[in-house]
Amino acid sequence: MIKFLDIFKQDQKIHSLIIKDIKRLFKSGDFILGKGVLEFENNFKDFTESKYAISCGNGTDALTIALKSLNLPNNSEVIIPAMTYCSTAFAVFNAGLKPILVDTEFLKPTIDLYDLKKKINRKTKVILPVHLYGSVADLTGIKKLIKKKKIFLIDDCAQAHGSLDDSMIVKKKKKIGSTTDISCFSLYPGKNLGAYGDAGIITTNNKVLYDRMKKIRNLGSDKKFKHDYIGLNSRLDTIQALILNRKIKNLSFLNKKRQKIAKFYNKNILNKNVIKLNYSKSCVYHQYVILVKNKNELIKKFNSKKIDFGFHYPFAIHQLAVFKKMFSGKKFKNAELLAKNGISLPIDPNLKQIELKIIVNTINAL
Ligand SMILES: Cc1ncc(COP(=O)(O)O)c(C=O)c1O
Repeated sequence: MIKFLDIFKQDQKIHSLIIKDIKRLFKSGDFILGKGVLEFENNFKDFTESKYAISCGNGTDALTIALKSLNLPNNSEVIIPAMTYCSTAFAVFNAGLKPILVDTEFLKPTIDLYDLKKKINRKTKVILPVHLYGSVADLTGIKKLIKKKKIFLIDDCAQAHGSLDDSMIVKKKKKIGSTTDISCFSLYPGKNLGAYGDAGIITTNNKVLYDRMKKIRNLGSDKKFKHDYIGLNSRLDTIQALILNRKIKNLSFLNKKRQKIAKFYNKNILNKNVIKLNYSKSCVYHQYVILVKNKNELIKKFNSKKIDFGFHYPFAIHQLAVFKKMFSGKKFKNAELLAKNGISLPIDPNLKQIELKIIVNTINAL
């Protein structure tokens, strides 16, 4: 079997260290917002080269907390891409706001700036691009569009831990997580940096927003019995923080391995029935997605060769059962193309060369 992602194998070398850390925690009983959580927030802040980091329960809450911290009037408009995970849209509703969908760019996984420009109006209060598959949205272009307007920029970085802001026109590009008002990360197990359960983290360079978000994730409080906001109970468990403190040390190494795999796919997938997407230059390839017209044929071949695969995602936001009525009559043709023809190839950082060759040969024989 060629696995899509093998987390056990990926972390095998650090398992015994993690167990030791957790045993020590059993003794200290420091389970809620313990020392390990603060250490992880510091480690992640350093990794993203941002000023502040606030850990929380998961990536969906990270987005919800970020949006709530802006204190916007109910039903203010938040622009999101039509192709993303459901959580991006759910977080907007969780915060009492209204999502407005924008198409993705043709053969790119990120938001289309021409369509975005058309959707910005007086009610727009937030632009929320998603760095889907680790490919970075044109943040610099978005900043130009909203210059001098009172619009916040929050990026959904759930799939982009370690990508650089490729939209910057400078020699030394900054890391994703440090170049917008607020950046939100999921640390779900399958992510480039994943916990052994649900987890999330938010970064910002804005002290006022940091102070608010730190309270919102902890029932509106940073002092016992003093509750300043209606908050969430969305704290990162200390156990997960200990695991993440070990795993973050390997993140850049594993990202490089993913980039090597993507390079191999880019070079060796040569089939006119297959379309390769355009990813940003420093993409960390949370997913490597190709477009295939006869997707079912490829699925059959993958199944017969025992090659794992995935879909990210088979439905665009407006096509999800829960949103069909709300967005009825709306068309987002590039997002729909990704949903219809997209298939995600194995991206486990430890895939062997022989396995990669089998995958590529199977695709090329389609
Ligand atoms: C783009 C995107 N946004 C948000 C989320 C939500 O993160 P979580 O599953 O940790 O709540 C995910 C996770 O799958 C995601 O991929």
